[in-house]
Amino acid sequence: MKIVTVVAPVNIAVIKYWGKRDEELILPINDSISGTLSTDFMCAKTTILASPSIKENVFWLNGELQSFDNKRLQNCLKEVRRRANPELPILKWNITICSKNNFPTAAGLASSAAGYACLVAALADLYEIKGDITSIARVGSGSACRSLYGGWVQWSKGVDPKGEDSIAHQIAPVSHWPEMRVIILVVNDERKKYSSTVGMKKSVETSELLRYRAQTIVPKRVEAIKEAILNKDFEMFSEITMRDSDQFHAICLDTFPPCVYMNDISHAIADTVHHYNEKKSSRKVAYTFDAGPNACLYILESEVEEFLSVINYVFPSSNKSDYVRGIKTNINPIEEELKLSFASKQLKADTLKFIIHTKIGDGPKILRDEKHHLLNNEGLPKKSMM
Ligand code: DP6
Repeated sequence: MKIVTVVAPVNIAVIKYWGKRDEELILPINDSISGTLSTDFMCAKTTILASPSIKENVFWLNGELQSFDNKRLQNCLKEVRRRANPELPILKWNITICSKNNFPTAAGLASSAAGYACLVAALADLYEIKGDITSIARVGSGSACRSLYGGWVQWSKGVDPKGEDSIAHQIAPVSHWPEMRVIILVVNDERKKYSSTVGMKKSVETSELLRYRAQTIVPKRVEAIKEAILNKDFEMFSEITMRDSDQFHAICLDTFPPCVYMNDISHAIADTVHHYNEKKSSRKVAYTFDAGPNACLYILESEVEEFLSVINYVFPSSNKSDYVRGIKTNINPIEEELKLSFASKQLKADTLKFIIHTKIGDGPKILRDEKHHLLNNEGLPKKSMM
């Protein structure tokens, strides 16, 4: 019997992946860059048990039994087994997978990246795979390949039709820019949107802007934001991040019929960020939005307290004790001049569900100690883990 548990992080792209050139192999039409978030507050956790006595393959996700007949899961497993030493006895055994996210999936926060990174890191450990595994996570979910490294990560689109060179690598470790913080504003919005997978397929089929972005804009932006990250140049970093998010959503609107992911609240957040930066006469905060209404803000540690106090003023909450989660911060009354300039922007209470204050963090971690496993030795989810 073999068992392993892994925790893996979420990542938030600053140069977005949007569009595939190969749907089956998940090969993108452009490079993308992201920051990996600390697993302290948001992560996926997966335990895999392999044993000759397991009768059939089983997959538990957030306490519910899932079908094992999931194409993306099967593709990851197939690739791991193909790369394993054919002599390994484990290749003949069935497995039980048990995964969970430590953040509310209902919040609409991307969980597939952390989930597939976690699955593939665990499989790679079990099947003793050496070398790059980002191309295996990629066939689970494109953005998952970036969650296999900590700090700042680039996913190169590659040119090989088989995708051998479509892999992720680290640009800079978390220690390079330890002051970087991330604030996630979870928007109260129940509407169902197209998934990223469906949305980007429609964009590839119908948006002419998409090709222009992938061929002409992204290559320059990738170089410029890498330089900004390596020089810790927040002014440059924040401008590129916001422009890339804006352009990605412009492409979503250029898709026919349009994919509308940002809502009025998302736009109010973007407006608050621009207004704050204007008031400060320099860019202190950068927003980026994925395929949903929630905002992800990059900001330096020194600015967090004041900016979160502004957010608390513009987007008040009736939930005083649990509104801002994650890294502790003081929320203060904002000074009179700022208050006056934001007064007309103030929205009604509970426009936002809650806020997560986190930071850039490391890649996946393997946990060997028995107490971390989500499964008992019979391959059943532990009660405490459900
Ligand atoms: C907007 O990686 O979820 O978050 O490869 O089809 O699984 P699939 O899509 P996914 O798309 C992520 C899109 C994005 C931008 C990004 O993370 O780069």
